[in-house]
Amino acid sequence: MQIVQFPHPTLRRVSKPLKRVDKELKGMVQEMFDLMYEAKGIGLAANQVDLPFRIFVANLSGARGQGEELVFLNPVLSAPKGRAIAEEGCLSFPQLYHPVARPEQIHVQAYDLSGNAIDRTVDGLLARVVQHEFDHLEGVLFIDRIEPGDQKVVEPALEEFVLEFSGHRASGKIADDARIEKQLRELESRYC
Ligand code: CO
Repeated sequence: MQIVQFPHPTLRRVSKPLKRVDKELKGMVQEMFDLMYEAKGIGLAANQVDLPFRIFVANLSGARGQGEELVFLNPVLSAPKGRAIAEEGCLSFPQLYHPVARPEQIHVQAYDLSGNAIDRTVDGLLARVVQHEFDHLEGVLFIDRIEPGDQKVVEPALEEFVLEFSGHRASGKIADDARIEKQLRELESRYC
């Protein structure tokens, strides 16, 4: 498992609800935390590690053994309130940061890995992370949320990512779209 970078096709895929959780899936979630900490992130969505499920993980402390380790399965967001602007980054866009406006507060319902219901109103940084990661599950990226007038500011960086990705494709480091899709469908048939 590894974190995939823009413009990997799985990042644009709408994730599927999970119907079952087994030991193997719990292992995948642990691996997501490992990769997130390694990359010094505070949130990571399943499609960022080329998995097709509606799951994301978060830990605002960004460090193992500190803060609160959160897993959100099949999350549903509601009741957005207010508006806040803050700089965001994404582990699928290393070194790219840009201000993004989002609701300041959001209600999130989900399940944790043990099947317990999560039902809480979050604000501040956690609200931002929850909305950023939820977007991933919908195939939406933080660059889509940048003010239209600012899109040209990030364009050179995006072109760099595209070039790098083409190189990985050419060298066979990243599979072709058909093969990626086949693997995602196999996982969906087992868990969704
Ligand atoms: Co992200």
